Amino acid sequence: MPGTETGTRIRPLDELDIDAIVRIDERISGIYRPEIWEQRVGFYLRRDPGASQVAEAGGKVVGFMLGDLRAGEFGLEEPSGWIERFGIDPDQRGKDLGRQMFAAMVAHFQAGGARSVRTLVDRKDEGVAGFLRALGLSPSPLEALEMRLDAKPTESR
Ligand SMILES: CC(C)(COP(=O)(O)OP(=O)(O)OC[C@H]1O[C@@H](n2cnc3c(N)ncnc32)[C@H](O)[C@@H]1OP(=O)(O)O)[C@@H](O)C(=O)NCCC(=O)NCCS
Repeated sequence: MPGTETGTRIRPLDELDIDAIVRIDERISGIYRPEIWEQRVGFYLRRDPGASQVAEAGGKVVGFMLGDLRAGEFGLEEPSGWIERFGIDPDQRGKDLGRQMFAAMVAHFQAGGARSVRTLVDRKDEGVAGFLRALGLSPSPLEALEMRLDAKPTESR
């Protein structure tokens, strides 16, 4: 039941969730970075309020998923939902909370006209990649490209 000691619920992110997200991220990454999360949460709340979600267990925020609906970027006219960052407190994993936050975001994206949901993942991060595969995401025909700017330039000719 929502809001009870044992109950879980999914709801849209709000500004008051920043401290909980900082705590969850610190548990996952070992790094305390309040400024980063204040900036990211503000960014997503401004860009697409109602898209990003948090998971509560026993009235406490134990997970988050941030993203937004975009159109016209990279020449992709069709609106699509983007999932950027997410995390579940290690003590609360395997309870379907990640899947439920994803479902809530997808419902928001579809209501905004999206016909696809996109993200970028480090293939070496098997935990995150495995979770995304389990949700139904698969490799895209779009390819992520990058060039290091901190390495010594190599001969291009
Ligand atoms: C990935 C993560 C979000 C999964 O959350 P969760 O709430 O435990 O996932 P769920 O219980 O909703 O699982 C949903 C599905 O994903 C699968 N899954 C979850 N974690 C998985 C993993 N590590 N490998 C493979 N599949 C996985 C589950 O088996 C389930 O599939 P099923 O429904 O077909 O059985 C969580 O483990 C996490 O926060 N990891 C760290 C993420 C991170 O590094 N974030 C950095 C900050 S951005």
